[in-house]
Amino acid sequence: MILVKTEKELKSSLVSSNKNRRLGLVPTMGALHKGHLSLVKRALSENDTVVVSIFVNPTQFDNKEDLDKYPQTLDADMGLLRQISNDLIVFAPAVDEVYKKEVRSKSYDFQGLDKVMEGAFREGHFDGVGTIIETLLKLVAPDRAYFGEKDFQQLQIIKKLVQIQKIPVAIVGCPIVRETSGLAMSSRNERLSKTTRNKASFIFKVLRTAKKKFGTKSANYVSDWVQGQFKEQADLELEYIMITDVETLSPVKRKQQNRKYRAFVAVYADGVRLVDNIALN
Ligand code: PAF
Repeated sequence: MILVKTEKELKSSLVSSNKNRRLGLVPTMGALHKGHLSLVKRALSENDTVVVSIFVNPTQFDNKEDLDKYPQTLDADMGLLRQISNDLIVFAPAVDEVYKKEVRSKSYDFQGLDKVMEGAFREGHFDGVGTIIETLLKLVAPDRAYFGEKDFQQLQIIKKLVQIQKIPVAIVGCPIVRETSGLAMSSRNERLSKTTRNKASFIFKVLRTAKKKFGTKSANYVSDWVQGQFKEQADLELEYIMITDVETLSPVKRKQQNRKYRAFVAVYADGVRLVDNIALN
């Protein structure tokens, strides 16, 4: 396992005489859990060399407190990665190494994908994500880069980013990994008390039932039903429920046979913001 902190060290660790080497990248913000590890395992199974980046990207936080609270656990992360493979390259740069002149994001036209849900509630978030992912993709130049479907909107936006910036990489979306209770794995789960963590499993229960209902009911009916369910939960505050087309992320007006749909929620559990989503058909 190699830990590199600068662009120069990264470049020299990536020098290879094998022209056919397949290179995979797993971008993370650290505080690794089983969800991240599943991305790393998938990357290892499809590539000869895998880089895992660990970087808490300041420009994607719209809230300074959220950034300050974000766990930085490099030693523990290295330990978890070592359990999977000793062959990884871990790139953990400092903020100045990534944002050379100014800690500021570029501005992108994601053709509306960033205007709904997380984009509507977290100003500038996706410009920040786009900036760091474009930087990492250009530095590492991987054949494939891996992202979890828990942040499905982010995944679609990164697919759009590589298309508009013409970056030659395959973006691989990987299924959500869940705790036994059904709660989607997230670094934020660590901030929940045991009781709230149990209560938060309600989020996936509601999504699963919403999926069943979507088989026979309209998107509006299902959204209203989900809202009603959360109104009865004192400790869980629903920020949004949206049922959208998978490609355009625009709300479903009338279901069409040949389109794929997904339901997305953001929920506050004791002040901790959790997101989840489910494929509906
Ligand atoms: O999903 C994340 O952890 C981050 O948004 C990402 C993709 C690593 C960019 O900082």
